[in-house]
Amino acid sequence: MDIILLGPPGAGKGTQASLLETAYGMVQLSTGDMLRAARTADTPLGNEVREVMDSGQLVSDEIVSRLIDDALRGLDAGTGVIFDGYPRTAAQAVSLDAILAGHGRKLDHVIELAVEEDALVDRITGRYTCAKCNAGYHDRHKLPTVAGVCDACGSTEFKRRPDDTQETVRTRMAEYRGKTAPILPIYDERGIVTRVDGMAEIDDVTAAIKAVLG
Ligand code: AP5
Repeated sequence: MDIILLGPPGAGKGTQASLLETAYGMVQLSTGDMLRAARTADTPLGNEVREVMDSGQLVSDEIVSRLIDDALRGLDAGTGVIFDGYPRTAAQAVSLDAILAGHGRKLDHVIELAVEEDALVDRITGRYTCAKCNAGYHDRHKLPTVAGVCDACGSTEFKRRPDDTQETVRTRMAEYRGKTAPILPIYDERGIVTRVDGMAEIDDVTAAIKAVLG
C-alpha cells in the first residue's frame, strides 16, 4: 500500500507518518528530511537547498523527484510507502506517477489533513526536537517531563529548524496554497482522496487515517 499525506506546514504529516510506520510496517519518505540531510553538505546541491529552504520556497522539482526515485530503488517491492511532503507541485505529481510505475507500484490513498492556518503557526514556531534522538517537543503543548531533559534519551541538547520562524512559515503556507493544494483535484478525479480533520487530537487523527487504510 502506497499513500500520500497531504497538508500545509505543521498539519501533522511527519507526526502521523511515523505513527503509521509503527502501526503498518510502512516506510516514511519525507523529502523535507532528505533535503535537511542534503543541506548540511558543503556541495553545490547542499548550498542551493539551504538557501531555498531557509526562504520557505520550494526546492526544484527535479531534485526532489530524483531523491524519491533513489529512495524507492532501495526498498523492497512489498514494503508500503508513506509519502510525506511529496508531491508538492503538479510537475511532481506527474513525476510520481512515472516513478511509481517504474518501480511496479501504484498509489492507493491520498490523505488530506484539513487544518486551520493560524493554529499551524503556533504549532510550528513552538516546536523543537532532541538534538540526539529527534524526539519532538513543543514550548506550550508538549514539554519534557523534567525541564531541559529529553524524555526518550536523557539528552540535554535540543534544536529548532531554521525555517520555523513566523515569516518563513507564512511563505511556506503561501507556497502550499499556490502550488500544492491545486494538485488535489488530480487525485480527486481518481477517487482516492480522503479528507481527515487534522485539528483533532493526534491519536484521533491516527484513528481516522487507520479507518481509511483498513
Ligand atoms: P517539510 O520538512 O516537508 O516541512 P513542511 O511541509 O513545512 O511540514 P512540517 O514538517 O513543518 O510539518 P508537518 O505537517 O510534518 O507537521 P508535524 O508532524 O511536524 O519541508 C521543509 C522545506 O523543504 C520546504 O519548505 C521546502 O523548502 C523543502 N521541501 C520539502 N519537500 C519538498 C518538495 N516535495 N518539493 C520542493 N521543496 C520541498 O507537526 C508540527 C507540530 O504540530 C509538531 O510540534 C507536532 O507535535 C504538532 N502536532 C501534530 N499534529 C498535531 C495535532 N493533531 N494536534 C496538536 N499538535 C499537533
